[in-house]
Amino acid sequence: MTEQSSRPNRSGKPRQHGENPSRGGKPQFRGGNAKPTTAHRRLRDEPEEKFIRRAIPDIDTPFTRMGIDARVAVNLPPMGIDAPSPIQEKAIPGIVEGRDLLGLAQTGTGKTAAFGLPMLTRLLNIGRKPEPKTCRALILAPTRELATQIAENIDAYAAGTPIRQFRVVGGASINVQTMRMERGVDVLIATPGRLIDLIERGAVDLSQTKYLVLDEADQMLDIGFIHALRRIAKMLPRERQTLLFSATMPKLMEELAESYLTDPLKVAVNPPGQAAAKIEQGVHFVNQGDKATLLAEYLAKHRDELAIVFGRTKHGSEKLSKLLEKWGYKVAAIHGNKSQGQRERALAGFRAGETKVLVATDVAARGLDIPEVAHVYNYDLPNVPENYVHRIGRTARAGRDGRAIAFCAPAEIGELRAIEKAMKSQIPVVGGEVPFEAAKIRERGGPAGRGAAGQDARKRPARRPSRAPKSTQRT
Ligand SMILES: Nc1ncnc2c1ncn2[C@@H]1O[C@H](COP(=O)(O)OP(=O)(O)OP(=O)(O)O)[C@@H](O)[C@H]1O
Ligand SMILES: [Mg+2]
Repeated sequence: MTEQSSRPNRSGKPRQHGENPSRGGKPQFRGGNAKPTTAHRRLRDEPEEKFIRRAIPDIDTPFTRMGIDARVAVNLPPMGIDAPSPIQEKAIPGIVEGRDLLGLAQTGTGKTAAFGLPMLTRLLNIGRKPEPKTCRALILAPTRELATQIAENIDAYAAGTPIRQFRVVGGASINVQTMRMERGVDVLIATPGRLIDLIERGAVDLSQTKYLVLDEADQMLDIGFIHALRRIAKMLPRERQTLLFSATMPKLMEELAESYLTDPLKVAVNPPGQAAAKIEQGVHFVNQGDKATLLAEYLAKHRDELAIVFGRTKHGSEKLSKLLEKWGYKVAAIHGNKSQGQRERALAGFRAGETKVLVATDVAARGLDIPEVAHVYNYDLPNVPENYVHRIGRTARAGRDGRAIAFCAPAEIGELRAIEKAMKSQIPVVGGEVPFEAAKIRERGGPAGRGAAGQDARKRPARRPSRAPKSTQRT
């Protein structure tokens, strides 16, 4: 803590006596030969003692029995978290013990708490403040919105404890982030690009980061992030605990994932890559030019319920949202061409239920937890097959029901096949004329192999074009 006294202040000048960068504005010790008095010593030690002596609630819950610190566990019931979900049950004990872990579980099954709760438990055992510019734990996420959501979750789990989180993402002031990092932080939640920027400015020092979490790990290991991740990983101590979580983990990625882990526990709830169990899925075959009208038909049947519509391009998504607005829908759009302010307002309005339809690119595919989302429409099929599972996973969160309809144009049959292959199951047809090529695949049992829906599809012959309904069947 005495190190703080010799650190420069925000203007770069040496700190003056009494100027304190930490919370509370207590007098600082003079550097050099100044001898600390008993009063000084008491002041210096106080935060640390407070840290350790804070009353630990005397509670016994399923989470405390798994080793979660009671100061964290006490925050869970008010959030509706009473008993651990399967991934939490499988992952938490190993993480509390200090093991590296690869955790795979379907969307909406509580992976954030599966890494957040044991990580906070371990941090609470340290009992010291972080040093300037450092963070004890680093959580990396692929999008700004997801980083924000994780930060909010960590705040909620850690309420009433001395643990502090800070979020650094693009689109926000880098100077503010630089200044905040001067104090150091317990948990840093970041998107990789902005973290690299801060490291290059000398604002973040990862040499003491003993915990690394990659949320949406397969996307973080993907080509768009891997270079940044490699640079970041080199700066972290070798002796650290690394946790990787996702709902999907393609085989190729799994090998790469292993290079970040030491003697990891592998925890998988259900075979990885499957859609959440309670999502009622369907594919509707439709010509590209008829998709907007079809979407409007579906939306009209559930005007009061929240729906996310996924488009492939920023431009296409923007155009679609404008069209829906013209047709009288309360709609907002979120994609890479929007400013950060617009993105945040769009999401806030949607979370609050003020806008009922959110048109989004894959920027909203991963991790976002908006429990009221009842419908997901894949207006365009994703070209990364795993993203289908993540997109539809924006509905049916934490055991709720949800529906997901994929609009498949004749040119998208290849994407549909790739998605079904990745999920190892067929998506039931709910409307439109099955193109000849797709019908043939379906008659053979499809690329899906022996998945549950695949078996279903074999029993039920593929819908013939002549018998296909003209409008939506199930909505
Ligand atoms: N044990 C629990 N009991 C009840 N609800 C829970 C529990 N754990 C988490 N939740 C709730 O479940 C929802 C989904 O959690 P979370 O966002 O962590 O899912 P996820 O597995 O990370 O999903 P995704 O793969 O989409 O990122 C949240 O609203 C969370 O508060
Ligand atoms: Mg998540």
